[in-house]
Amino acid sequence: MILIDGKKAAAELREELRHEVTGLKAKYNKVPGLTVILIGDLTPSQIYVRNKEKSANEVGLKSEVIKYPDSVEEKTVLEKIKELNKDETVSGILVQLPLPKHIDKQKVIETILPSKDVDGFHPMNVGNLSSGYESSVPCTPLGCYLLIKKVEPNLNGKKAVIVGRSNLNGKPMTQLLLKENCTVTITHSKTKDLKAECLEADIIVAAVGIPELVKGDWVKRDTIVIDVGINKTDKGIVGDVDFDEVSKNAKALTPVPGGVGPMTIACLLKNTIECFKRSQI
Ligand code: GUN
Repeated sequence: MILIDGKKAAAELREELRHEVTGLKAKYNKVPGLTVILIGDLTPSQIYVRNKEKSANEVGLKSEVIKYPDSVEEKTVLEKIKELNKDETVSGILVQLPLPKHIDKQKVIETILPSKDVDGFHPMNVGNLSSGYESSVPCTPLGCYLLIKKVEPNLNGKKAVIVGRSNLNGKPMTQLLLKENCTVTITHSKTKDLKAECLEADIIVAAVGIPELVKGDWVKRDTIVIDVGINKTDKGIVGDVDFDEVSKNAKALTPVPGGVGPMTIACLLKNTIECFKRSQI
């Protein structure tokens, strides 16, 4: 079984990006800038944002975090986003989710200029991705995609089963694999026989948020399994895949932690650099 080392893949990607930023600095005499807006004091969000900032600095990006208390008015956040949209030193804007209830997530997402939307959540980017045009691609599925390609560069005709249909993961993951000529099945909570669907798969991407849902006997011997889940349980953090069981059967599997997570952050940096490059044309 191949244990897909997301930490190593992310470190390699960051190294590539660091070189690219050096080249961009020489060419344009400026570096891409990432601004993250963090609202409230949820611990996981704070940890994510700290990691994003650290990684951005590591590859030489200009990075800034703007923090607001939970009680901040929606209007204040929207005004700040509009200001950042106009700021030429800001290539990418990310508003960390989840947001407090009184702030309209969709309004926030749609206020970010599509050309600075490093999350790829703006409807314009969603539409461009599904039409096969140039777009920002959500960081987690992009990270999953790059890990899959490392194990299997030619995905032509492969059968992929996505478990979970979220806008964050399942749907964009589908688009990325369709572009690679995979036959993609999207499954979800109402799917009749999830095990039978998974048993057909050459590639499984599990992104449902149900601890250890995908079992060993759901997986063929030559299947690549990507686990997007991060679930807090009594026995600590586990993914959506039963690691002990599936690792005995699958061809390749990502661990949790140390699989998809590190790649997500590296892909955010990649997206920031792509936004910068497109803005220079
Ligand atoms: N919170 C958890 N994952 C993400 C993500 O990919 N983007 C943003 N903006 N917030 C998140």
